[in-house]
Amino acid sequence: MIEVHNITKRYGNITAIDRVTFSVAKGEVLAFLGPNGAGKTTTMRILTCFMPATEGTARVAGFNCADQPMDVKRRIGYVPETPPVYQEFTVSEYLTFVGNLRGMTGKALTSGIEQSIEKLALGDVRHRLIGNLSRGYRQRVGLAQAVLHDPPVLILDEPTVGLDPKQIIEIRELIKSLAGSHSVILSTHILPEATAVCQRVVIISGGRIVAEDTPDQLSARLRHSEKISVTIKNPPDDCLAKLQTIPGILHVFSAQPTGTFLLECALGQDKRDEIARFVIANQWGLLELRTISMTLEDVFLQLTRHEEGVSDPVQSVVEHTGAAQETTL
Ligand SMILES: Nc1ncnc2c1ncn2[C@@H]1O[C@H](COP(=O)(O)OP(=O)(O)OP(=O)(O)O)[C@@H](O)[C@H]1O
Ligand SMILES: [Mg+2]
Repeated sequence: MIEVHNITKRYGNITAIDRVTFSVAKGEVLAFLGPNGAGKTTTMRILTCFMPATEGTARVAGFNCADQPMDVKRRIGYVPETPPVYQEFTVSEYLTFVGNLRGMTGKALTSGIEQSIEKLALGDVRHRLIGNLSRGYRQRVGLAQAVLHDPPVLILDEPTVGLDPKQIIEIRELIKSLAGSHSVILSTHILPEATAVCQRVVIISGGRIVAEDTPDQLSARLRHSEKISVTIKNPPDDCLAKLQTIPGILHVFSAQPTGTFLLECALGQDKRDEIARFVIANQWGLLELRTISMTLEDVFLQLTRHEEGVSDPVQSVVEHTGAAQETTL
């Protein structure tokens, strides 16, 4: 449904995206994941015919974005980073206005409006001025205009930015409900978003695609060993060296002063039992013992940091393990 082949966009001597290639099948939801300035919006603007690529080709439903913009636009619903909703219109007026711009009239327009209002749960605010709506509701109005003409392709640029957790869940549910009947590209720099709603993830960093796979495959591919976290109440000074002597343990990393150690063993091995016995036998006080699966966040950090010269996967797990406690909702 969407085919992007080797697109490059240069602004003067800035290369915003560099030979980006990916595709989205019919009914698939693809996450375009990357840090700020990675090139997500640039790619989406090319796909929506807002501007042409410097090199390469982008096609939507078989139509070339550079040569057949009207055919492409008819098949796309687009929610830009900041939805262009007019504050002085009511929700219904705005949707009527957008529908008219798209050439919709009569029954097609009325049923399009009714369906999009229903999908986005906008019934209660349909006669209110957009300028008086909360940010979350304005975002919904942005999404409603995108689905108004029931396009087969939806391009959503960071659709949940600025929403509260409840609204985020609602919008994610909505996106999931569109899967199957629509092809969706969703850009985000929030990892849970990618795993929550998408079947496939493209990770972009510095204008280049650094990985593409299912969320599970991505983390499996980059996992070279099993990692176990152990938290000890009274670790002695030589705790790290002693843990290292447990048979089958390849490396031990310390996340002091918390008393948490990260132990690495060969892929497919589970040494939790041995570690527990060892800590108990030494009477150090076992507070916690668990395996650590490499999350998509670890993969993302590893891949997007590579360019900055930090590529040690264990280090990023150690750092992430510490950070995870603070960021978990
Ligand atoms: N009109 C422009 N002129 C010059 N450089 C630009 C222009 N638009 C974007 N860029 C640059 O292109 C790169 C990619 O920007 P882009 O907006 O596509 O990133 P993004 O992934 O959407 O980031 P964010 O998460 O912050 O929205 C950045 O380095 C940006 O500064
Ligand atoms: Mg952007």
